[in-house]
Amino acid sequence: MFAVVLVGGFGTRLRPLTNAVPKPLLPLGQRTILEWMMVHLARGGVTDAVLALGFKPEPFLAAFPDRTCAGVRLHFAIEDSPLDTAGAIGFAARSVALHERNEPFIVANGDIVTDLRIANLVAAHQRNRTAGALATIHLTPVTDPSQYGVVETTPDGLVTGFVEKPAPGTTASRHVNAGTYVLEPASLAAMPGDGPLSIERATFPHFVQQRALFALQTNDYWLDAGRPESYLRANLDLISGARIDRDDAVHASAVLAPECEVRDSVVGAGAHIGNGARVVDSVIGPRAVIGDGAVVERSVALGDVAASHVVRDTLIAPA
Ligand code: GDD
Ligand code: MG
Repeated sequence: MFAVVLVGGFGTRLRPLTNAVPKPLLPLGQRTILEWMMVHLARGGVTDAVLALGFKPEPFLAAFPDRTCAGVRLHFAIEDSPLDTAGAIGFAARSVALHERNEPFIVANGDIVTDLRIANLVAAHQRNRTAGALATIHLTPVTDPSQYGVVETTPDGLVTGFVEKPAPGTTASRHVNAGTYVLEPASLAAMPGDGPLSIERATFPHFVQQRALFALQTNDYWLDAGRPESYLRANLDLISGARIDRDDAVHASAVLAPECEVRDSVVGAGAHIGNGARVVDSVIGPRAVIGDGAVVERSVALGDVAASHVVRDTLIAPA
């Protein structure tokens, strides 16, 4: 099975981290967000993934020189200019001729961290197909839906409303688009891939009109790692065991001075925590140096923190 993974956005909400590193290549535990995505897709039966690239494609090509990750074959589709979500899907899917194949494919937003079983979404889609489904999308409950695509469904999963980032108070639904889809090849007719088009604002509302959009709601672990608090949370949950997947908190090659304190934090390969430094609820990137006596709390330090400096609720880009 193929997947198209959307990784071409600007990562605006995670600046300054994303000035240097595209969002999907930011650390998540001892891997990257994208590597965990590939582990997750592979487990769900995906053999091939097309990375829909736009902003900063080079680091992706450099990260996977042998064009494989977690056993998934990688293909690269690079946009000349941003095509938005449906434009990017149409362009990337055609680059590997998915419009000519006879089987559905997965689409995933590249910043999603979830325990959803992809195979369950595929199975739901197979059932919906007989009712004319062009797409089946994963839904998750949230407390504040205004930052997401808000979805209304009938009890049997037919989507009756899809509104992207509605003004607060305009919808009663607490179920949002969770950013993983199963699409029929025929859905690509609505996504020509030759210009900017939004799947959330144009394609999905159009499918709703056609009664061709279906949904599967689950209570699996889910978050969108595209905001500072949720990106940090994704890391802390991965080391605390709040999820099916778990990762080492401190990389074996990191150097921790004898008198430092490191608690509930990710410390990447080759990082150095100085004498008397205190690191709590934070991510210290690979090779970052935290100086003697520095304090880092609820922060992401992909770059260095000078001796004795105190940083709280801060994102520090690599130097
Ligand atoms: N290739 C390419 N080209 N990718 C893009 C482009 C583009 O022009 N624009 C955005 N993307 C990618 C981003 O890199 C990201 O992986 C994905 O598309 C979604 O973009 P976000 O910027 O993360 O969107 P969002 O988080 O505000 O909203 C989306 O995700 C929510 C769930 O987390 C929407 O799909 C919402 O409906 C959804 O609820
Ligand atoms: Mg997002």
